[in-house]
Amino acid sequence: MKTILITGCSSGFGLETARYFLERDWSVIATMRTPQADLLPLSDRLRVLPLDVTDAESIRHAVEAAGPIDVLVNNAGVGVLNALEGMSMETVRDVFETNTFGTMAMTQAILPQFRQRMAGVVINVTSTVTMKALDLLSVYTASKAAVNAFSECLALEVAQFNVRVRLVLPGLAPETRFGDNARTRMQGGVPEPYSAIAQGVFARFEKPGPVTLALDVAGAVWQAANDPACPFRLPAGADAVALASAG
Ligand SMILES: NC(=O)c1ccc[n+]([C@@H]2O[C@H](COP(=O)([O-])OP(=O)(O)OC[C@H]3O[C@@H](n4cnc5c(N)ncnc54)[C@H](OP(=O)(O)O)[C@@H]3O)[C@@H](O)[C@H]2O)c1
Repeated sequence: MKTILITGCSSGFGLETARYFLERDWSVIATMRTPQADLLPLSDRLRVLPLDVTDAESIRHAVEAAGPIDVLVNNAGVGVLNALEGMSMETVRDVFETNTFGTMAMTQAILPQFRQRMAGVVINVTSTVTMKALDLLSVYTASKAAVNAFSECLALEVAQFNVRVRLVLPGLAPETRFGDNARTRMQGGVPEPYSAIAQGVFARFEKPGPVTLALDVAGAVWQAANDPACPFRLPAGADAVALASAG
């Protein structure tokens, strides 16, 4: 039986991915900043462990407690929507701490066991915002684009150990808590000189058209974990697939 460790399982894509793999007979280590065992069905194949990807001690404990794993999913992430002028550098650093450095730190912590066993898959969840520039998303997009570039280089250096690296790129998913979480980082709101742009952005959110479902992301992670021949970048969701095929 294979084991997957997923970061950020308290909601959204992480929670759905944990559920998806449990239903398909994998052993699942669902990690959360604040563990809540009742979010997922009871199973002797499920372990819920505390993990904050910005905290080195927390990473060390989680990786030690997890033991051998086959697949790591770096899903934990935070959003921020604002003009650069409306953000403190503290917020900029916070976003990178979770989305970018958290992904690197988790990968670094897991790689020794993958290298020694000559097997393993690292799946990094980034975003389609890295495929098409959008207003008010400079910092968030940069944090995810850095993970794309990191993953491409990492894939080269770990291929010799039979370790695979894949990217899953979801589109816009209004059903998760992501939008609400991002709003908490908007501080004083969008600065007035950018208000016309902001109105356009919020109007587009009201009528998004095709969107990404958490289930789409879980399915893409499943493909990345199980199909060694799958592409390096996997768009997840109707909007993501349309964008990828347009580009
Ligand atoms: N929703 C979208 O439109 C969208 C689109 C493209 C990509 N994404 C990406 O998809 C991933 C999942 O997002 P989602 O939509 O499922 O959002 P979500 O519902 O807000 O879930 C984000 C998860 O990350 C966790 N998290 C945040 N900071 C963490 C930290 N320091 N350590 C560990 N866990 C942390 C959250 O835990 P807490 O409950 O403790 O906060 C939560 O479990 C993110 O990387 C996001 O950037 C989202």
